[in-house]
Parts: sequence; structure tokens; C-alpha cells
Amino acid sequence: METGLIPAIVDCDPGTDDAIALFLALASMDVRLVTVSGGNVPLDRTLANARAVVGLAGKPVPVVAGADRPLLGHHRAETAVHGADGLGGVVLPDGPPVTPGVAADAIRALLRDAAPRSVAAIALAPPTNLALALATEPALAGRLSGISIMAGAWGEGNWTPSAEYNAAMDPEALAMLLEADVPITLVTLDLTAQALITPAVLAALPRDGACARAARAILGAVPPSRRFDHAGFALHDPCAVAAVIAPAMFGFRQAAVRVDTGDGAARGRTHIDRWGRTAHAAKIRMAETLDAPRFFAMLADALQRLP
Ligand code: BDR
Ligand code: CA
Repeated sequence: METGLIPAIVDCDPGTDDAIALFLALASMDVRLVTVSGGNVPLDRTLANARAVVGLAGKPVPVVAGADRPLLGHHRAETAVHGADGLGGVVLPDGPPVTPGVAADAIRALLRDAAPRSVAAIALAPPTNLALALATEPALAGRLSGISIMAGAWGEGNWTPSAEYNAAMDPEALAMLLEADVPITLVTLDLTAQALITPAVLAALPRDGACARAARAILGAVPPSRRFDHAGFALHDPCAVAAVIAPAMFGFRQAAVRVDTGDGAARGRTHIDRWGRTAHAAKIRMAETLDAPRFFAMLADALQRLP
């Protein structure tokens, strides 16, 4: 059905900020597929959380399970931020059943039927599922209008001093996406630090409706960050959705980006050449600045449009 909205695949690991990103995408885009990986919490929990958010939003979108671990190595959770259940202890009604199949297959099937450059992919998790999908049928990258990836940092990391969580969990998968023949938008920790949820921002979000109440409860459960002197925390994943639906809110810079896939202390670090100091092509569109008041107003508006 033609909706006038941007067709999208959302790959996620809910995850408190993934849940808010899903609400934003489901309210604002023609989300055709939600794929899930293990990440912030193990796959059985991220899958249940994704189903619950989709169910609460009342959208008939297939939710398909993907990788429970990165291409190399093993799964590692981020429960300090997201809680043992991934949603900070907020219990949502059970969502629709999981759609049978495997994420990479579902992504490829959707893209095979899509017109060239017509579907936006939004990567909010260790990007294993998207990397697997494109590795096995690279020509399908041509069906994507782009991939908006929340990963990396040009400054310090949040998992190690060098590396951001999604990049650190599956650097090989991220390297594959950065090399793919598709326009990439990169939303880093330095960008998401500008989307700071403070008590005042939280208080201004809508209160009516099941989705708005769930969003407020989930955001209220996230501990304030030492990085911001406990003034609040960065709302990472919704920024990668916003970069697709409202690019005018961002300042972008073209940059060469490589990810460290070695075994040393910098594993998962994104080397971002903001100033053209290397000979590598500046082919990544990196989000560098955000108009935070407009971003939070857009999020509030989206939550108001959901049940
Ligand atoms: C990223 O890691 C996860 O914990 C969040 O959901 C986000 O995708 C931020 O580093
Ligand atoms: Ca995430």
C-alpha cells in the first residue's frame, strides 16, 4: 500500500533507546520489517521487547529473529544501562508472535521485491543481521536508499575507552556495511550526546496513550550518565531514525570511516577522518550536529500519534 512514508527496515536490540526509536519509526515511517539481534540483552529478551513495542504501537509489522551473537566471538549484554530485561524493568503487554524465519533471509526477501534505492535500513544494534544479508547477496544493496547506522564515535567510546557498544560488539559486521555499495549515514556517540534526556526533557514528553506512557516509563528507568555529570543520558538510537525522516535537523560531514577489527585495545574503534587527513575516500555521511529542541519536539509529536 502506498502511504507516502519512507519504506524502512529497522534492525534493533531493544534496549531502552531502541524501544523509543521503534516508536519513532513506527509513527513516522512505512516500517515493513523489524529484525532483531542479541545485543543489549540476549536475543530471547530483545525479541520479546521488539514484539511488545510493535504490538503497543498497533502496527502489523513482521518481527523476525536474527543473530544471537556477532560474526566472531560471543554475545555480551549491556545491562547496566538497559537492565536485565532490556527495558529497565518496565513490563509491557506481550506483543504479536514472532514471524517465522531468519532476519538475513527476511531482509533479502524484502529487498528482492523492492525498487532500486527505495528502502531505508536503520541499524540500531550490533549490525550482524544486515551484514549477513548483504554479504550473501551484495547486489541487493542497490535496493536500499541508504543505511542509517548508530555506531561508533570520533571521540571516546562507551564500551571501552576506544569503542562504542554496537561497533565493539561486531566490528567485522560494521566493516562490511561501511564497505557496502550503499549510501551510509553514521550516527555516533558524539552526535547522540546532543540528544540529552534530562528530567526537564522527560517532563515535556506526552503523558496520554499507552505508547507515550511506556516511553516515559522506559526513559525514566535509564540511569543518568557519569559522562554528563548525572545530568541525564544520551538518547542514541532515535537519532538514527531522525537522520532519515528529518535530515534537516542535522549538520552532516562527509568523512572516511574505518573500524578497527584487530584484537588489541582499539578493537571496535571507528577511525573517523573528519578533516581529510588520510587518502581514504570520504564516502560516509556522518551526522555531526543536531537541533535537539526540534528533535525532542518531533519525538513528542510521534508519541502523540501512536495509541
Ligand atoms: C548503542 O548501544 C546500545 O546500548 C544502545 O541501544 C545503542 O544502540 C549506544 O552505544
Ligand atoms: Ca541499540
